[in-house]
Amino acid sequence: MKKTAFITGITGQDGAYLAKFLLEKGYRVIAGRRRLSTANYWRLEYLDILDKVELVYFDLTEGATGTIRLLEKYNINEFYNLAAQSFVDVSFDQPSHTNEINYIGVIKQLEAIRSVDKNIRFYQASSSEMYGKVMEIPQKETTPFYPRSPYAVSKLSAHWIVCNYRESHKLHASSGILFNHESPLRGEEFVTRKITDSLAQIKCRKLDTLRLGNLEALRDWGYAADYVKGMWMMLQQEKPDDYVLATGKTCSVREFCEKAASLLGYHLTWKGSKDQEIGIDTKTGKTIIKVDPKFYRPAEVDILCGDSSKAREVLGWSHTTDLDKLVEIMVEADIKRAEKT
Ligand code: NAP
Ligand code: GDD
Repeated sequence: MKKTAFITGITGQDGAYLAKFLLEKGYRVIAGRRRLSTANYWRLEYLDILDKVELVYFDLTEGATGTIRLLEKYNINEFYNLAAQSFVDVSFDQPSHTNEINYIGVIKQLEAIRSVDKNIRFYQASSSEMYGKVMEIPQKETTPFYPRSPYAVSKLSAHWIVCNYRESHKLHASSGILFNHESPLRGEEFVTRKITDSLAQIKCRKLDTLRLGNLEALRDWGYAADYVKGMWMMLQQEKPDDYVLATGKTCSVREFCEKAASLLGYHLTWKGSKDQEIGIDTKTGKTIIKVDPKFYRPAEVDILCGDSSKAREVLGWSHTTDLDKLVEIMVEADIKRAEKT
């Protein structure tokens, strides 16, 4: 029988990829979008699935009764909670709003499931950001958490409440501790997409320089399309559990810039230090990157590097796209966009 999935955060990067994946698996996809003054369906259009998902109005901050009505109307088998205030930087300015959405919002969904049907399987989008000031390298499911931002605190609170509902109310609730995953559908404020988009615009003479914060931050970057498959795999298990999804490799923001720049025909060399550092294209002598302290964070996560052995062994999940290929995919998409506009 055709299964029905409910996805929150459908207009975001992961929501769009997950919807495509589930539609291809034959699912009926009900998807929660917020009421906005300007519709933002560009990702669903990019993947050509806008007319294939059934959109309903949904907000994580609405009371549990809103979700209860949805769960009663559609016979939901799997509930993927991907919606969030997901930008770490903004969480320092809007800590309470971030927690209202990312933590309290999750309790409301769990309460709704508990009231309507405990057999509904629940996926929570937990984050490697919860490891923060990391206690070991690489990080795995048993690594202690040390959150470094209001976003990370909100995600960690949600992570534990999911664990609590699993243990106390026997919900089939799993959390994926996902390390950074990117794609051409990544929001432009996140560093990878900011780099590929800005460098492509510089190449097309539509932008002068790319301004960045901390070039030394290290992240374990994977491809979003690989990661949504892992979310689905978690909900197919007989028992709910938590799993790390990661590539196991880490790379700095600086190296990411070099990889993207080189694909666009630039050869970057760095001059100066700290706030004064600039990236120059050696062929033309032009400065294409400048460090701007405006993009520094009040507290930084210096290094993330994940160990996804458990997901490999239990789920049979592993990433298929390495960082070099990911940068290539993103640069190719952004140069096409920059040439068009
Ligand atoms: P994203 O592109 O920023 O998408 C976030 C989605 O949440 C958007 O659809 C947004 O809707 C929606 N949303 C925000 N506030 C909401 C609210 N109050 N009610 C309902 N919907 C709301 O994020 P993403 O990269 O796809 O990430 C998906 C999830 O995974 C997030 O929970 C994120 O924190 C988590 N995560 C992401 C990564 C990563 O590297 N991408 C890693 C670990 C965990 P609008 O379009 O209306 O704003
Ligand atoms: N966004 C941004 N913009 N980050 C910059 C910049 C810049 O101009 N310059 C340097 N960085 C550094 C940040 O300081 C951070 O260390 C790193 O680049 C990555 O920043 P983001 O791309 O904004 O991602 P994030 O790691 O903070 O958070 C993302 O990954 C988490 C999983 O670890 C988000 O997707 C979160 O929602 C997700 O949970």
